Amino acid sequence: MKALIIYATVEGQTRKIAETSARYLEENGWSVSLMNVSQQFEFALERPDAVLLMAPVHANDYTSDFIEFVRRESSWLNSVPSAFVSVSLSIHSQFEDERTAVVELPETLSIYTGWRPSMVHHAAGALRFGEYDFFKRLMVRYMATREVKTADKSQNHEFTDWDALKAFVQDFANSVSGKSVAAG
Ligand SMILES: Cc1cc2nc3c(=O)[nH]c(=O)nc-3n(C[C@H](O)[C@H](O)[C@H](O)COP(=O)(O)O)c2cc1C
Repeated sequence: MKALIIYATVEGQTRKIAETSARYLEENGWSVSLMNVSQQFEFALERPDAVLLMAPVHANDYTSDFIEFVRRESSWLNSVPSAFVSVSLSIHSQFEDERTAVVELPETLSIYTGWRPSMVHHAAGALRFGEYDFFKRLMVRYMATREVKTADKSQNHEFTDWDALKAFVQDFANSVSGKSVAAG
């Protein structure tokens, strides 16, 4: 079975999530191609059996190149089994209104682009204080999540639940192939 993983990333965490998901699939016999939407606009690939899209939330939305890609390719994306991983910090928040706001973003993306993934997963991202420039530090400081307010600003923090991601990738793979992807 062939899978195509298409991702956007600003700080690198969604790339890590995409590469880890690719490994989960490859360990179970899938052949996987990875594509970064901002670096590779044309792609030649045999028609995949499944497509996974992954994108981070920055300033309350997905990046414009990702949204534009999905809008442009929505017909094709709707013609193959597809799933979406939305990466954000608010999904890790203790405050329900912050979680609710970010949980609604995939539906807003669907309304705007016309793409309807069959499964959606919300993965918590990371804070990379060591890599932010002055303006990013300022933006992150104003983000509402409790994680940002209480985090040690001298260190990087990774909130991604890798077991939950693996279970999601496994469920999606199972739904496409109709057989079990071994856990472990
Ligand atoms: C400048 C900036 C703005 C962000 N804005 C949001 C936001 O509005 N909502 C949210 O839940 N997370 C926000 N985040 C957290 C990112 O979603 C998180 O850091 C994620 O891991 C980024 O993925 P990436 O490394 O693939 O770019 C922001 C992060 C940065 C650095």
